[in-house]
Amino acid sequence: MILAVVSHKGGVGKTTTAVHLAAYFQTLGSTLLLDGDDTRNAINWSQRGAGFPFRVAPIQEAAQLMPTVTHTVIDTGQRQTAEDLRAAYATCDLIIIPSVPASLDTDGLGQTIRAIREHGPDKLRVLLTRVPPDAAKETAELRGLLLQMTVEILTSEIPMLKAFAKAAAAGEIVNQTKDRNAHRAWEAYKAAGKEIRG
Ligand SMILES: Nc1ncnc2c1ncn2[C@@H]1O[C@H](COP(=O)(O)OP(=O)(O)OP(=O)(O)O)[C@@H](O)[C@H]1O
Ligand SMILES: [Mg+2]
Repeated sequence: MILAVVSHKGGVGKTTTAVHLAAYFQTLGSTLLLDGDDTRNAINWSQRGAGFPFRVAPIQEAAQLMPTVTHTVIDTGQRQTAEDLRAAYATCDLIIIPSVPASLDTDGLGQTIRAIREHGPDKLRVLLTRVPPDAAKETAELRGLLLQMTVEILTSEIPMLKAFAKAAAAGEIVNQTKDRNAHRAWEAYKAAGKEIRG
């Protein structure tokens, strides 16, 4: 399966999502994480610790490496051009849009959805990320809005947990991190991964 994690909005959890979906897909078959962000957040994350259980490479190596693996997850930067999105759309089975359930964030989300839909409608899945414990109202509103736009939204949500920042700082996948919520954090991405896999 080939996935791209895309959002025009910064800091919504693209890289965290790409890393953990790659970790989930690696449990199913050989997986490659391509870093398509100039800031190289995913590559840097993978180099801070003992290394990830899957290959991480810059997007420039896509043509060479993708044929050698079963699954590919692509992390992208904030400033994707129309051409980047067209290429992602053409290459990927699904485009995952992480979104934070806060009203302020919804504009960036709408923009991302419209830009991707120019290329065709069927490949989008929104994943709610960094969901605070008291966000039931915002979450329900966002789900309603997306339903109106006929955008598919995953049932699984990723809770806001410090374990994710700890994992990034330590160069780890969250299931390796010493944190009381590490298991919960990992289970959330596992559930999202299962839904994506279908
Ligand atoms: N579920 C979560 N709970 C708490 N913090 C999170 C969660 N997901 C991500 N974060 C933190 O939020 C920050 C932004 O996450 P991340 O880097 O994954 O977002 P991004 O969309 O890739 O950002 P950018 O647009 O800069 O590439 C990081 O500090 C990360 O550790
Ligand atoms: Mg990022």
